[in-house]
Amino acid sequence: MKTLILNGSPHKNGDTSYIVNELKKKIDGEIEEIFLYDAKLSPCIDCRYCWKNKGCSIKDDMQKINNDDYDLLILASPVYFYNVTPPMFSLLTRLNYIWSNKHFLDITHTFKNKRGILVLTGGGGGEPKHALDTVNLIFKYLNAEFDSEKDYIYSLNTDNVSAKDDINVKKMIEKIDF
Ligand SMILES: Cc1cc2nc3c(=O)[nH]c(=O)nc-3n(C[C@H](O)[C@H](O)[C@H](O)COP(=O)(O)O)c2cc1C
Repeated sequence: MKTLILNGSPHKNGDTSYIVNELKKKIDGEIEEIFLYDAKLSPCIDCRYCWKNKGCSIKDDMQKINNDDYDLLILASPVYFYNVTPPMFSLLTRLNYIWSNKHFLDITHTFKNKRGILVLTGGGGGEPKHALDTVNLIFKYLNAEFDSEKDYIYSLNTDNVSAKDDINVKKMIEKIDF
C-alpha cells in the first residue's frame, strides 16, 4: 500500500505536521509526503491547452499527484481565511484539466478508487467551511472516498491549545481504522 500525503502547511514542525507525523506512525507501507510550499507546483494559468489536448501543459510536481500510484491520500492544511492554504488551492485549480478534457473533448480520466483522510488545523477563527468545500473537490477529482465522520482529524483552536496538546486530536487518531 502506498500513501501520498499533501502537506499544505509552511511549517515542518507546526500544528498540521504534528498531526501528520502522528498519523504516519500508524500507517504501513510506503509513504510519500509532499510539502506543497516546497513543491514545484504552479497554479492553473488558464492557457486552455486542456480544451484541445489531453492532460495539462504544465510539467511540474503535479505529475506525482496525477501518477495515481497511491491507495491512500492524506490532505493536510492549516485554515487560512476559512479555506486551505494557497498552494493547496493551487493544486485544486490544476485539476481543472479533468473537467475541461471531459467537457470539450469527451476524454474521461479515471483515477483508481482510494481512501481520503483529512487533517485541518485552525487558530480559532470559526468553521472552516470553505476549506471543506475545497478538499471535497480535490478528493472527488482524485477519486478518493472521504468519510468525514471517521477520517477527519482537526484541531481548530491552536491559538490557545496547540495540536500537540489537544486531547481530542489523540482521540480522533486512536479512532481511525487503518
Ligand atoms: C494568513 C493566515 C490566515 C489564517 N486564517 C485563519 C482562519 O481563517 N481561521 C482559523 O481558524 N485560523 C486561521 N489562521 C491560523 C492558522 O490556521 C493556525 O495558526 C494553524 O494552526 C497553523 O498551522 P501550522 O502550524 O501547521 O502552520 C490563519 C493564519 C494565517 C497565517
